[in-house]
Amino acid sequence: MEDVEQYLFKIVIIGDSAVGKSNLLSRYARNEFNLHSKATIGVEFQTQSMEIDGKEVKAQIWDTAGQERFRAVTSAYYRGAVGALVVYDISRRTTFDSVPRWLQELSTHSDTAVAKMLVGNKCDLEDIRDISVDEGKSLAEAEGLFFIETSALDCTNVKKAFEIVIREIY
Ligand code: GTP
Ligand code: MG
Repeated sequence: MEDVEQYLFKIVIIGDSAVGKSNLLSRYARNEFNLHSKATIGVEFQTQSMEIDGKEVKAQIWDTAGQERFRAVTSAYYRGAVGALVVYDISRRTTFDSVPRWLQELSTHSDTAVAKMLVGNKCDLEDIRDISVDEGKSLAEAEGLFFIETSALDCTNVKKAFEIVIREIY
């Protein structure tokens, strides 16, 4: 029998409510987008495979509620995570201002080194942009994160955002 090496990584998606966390995940894992998605209650996850250097790498990607009252047990959510996407909405400044708080929570609850990507989602909303690309980049540099802008709606960079984090872990 062939000896197939397998890797399974846990990645968490965090950020304020309605920034598009669930749609980023559904776009990446199932190529689906929902214009009228409901706020997440509790936790959902999807497992997605990719191949790196001929090896199958599986990412178990966790998605929870941005709203405090709908959130799952925080410590359980972060336990064992080796990657994180910290998402804000480029058209809503309050969601960008929350990023340091999300990073704080992540560092409080994570037990190991975590590969982190700052994600400015909804880059299709150029007309009502509130956070410039430079501002996003600066914050990422200051906090030691990767940075990318995405659109779950038109697919821009969604695959790339997850795969950069997965490659970094691997
Ligand atoms: P919570 O579960 O409450 O934390 O929210 P969430 O971060 O999971 O947001 P969700 O994915 O449910 O998306 C919220 C709203 O934003 C929905 O109406 C989506 O259709 C919309 N949305 C998500 N991604 C994009 C995007 O890239 N562009 C645009 N224009 N809308 C988006
Ligand atoms: Mg959600």
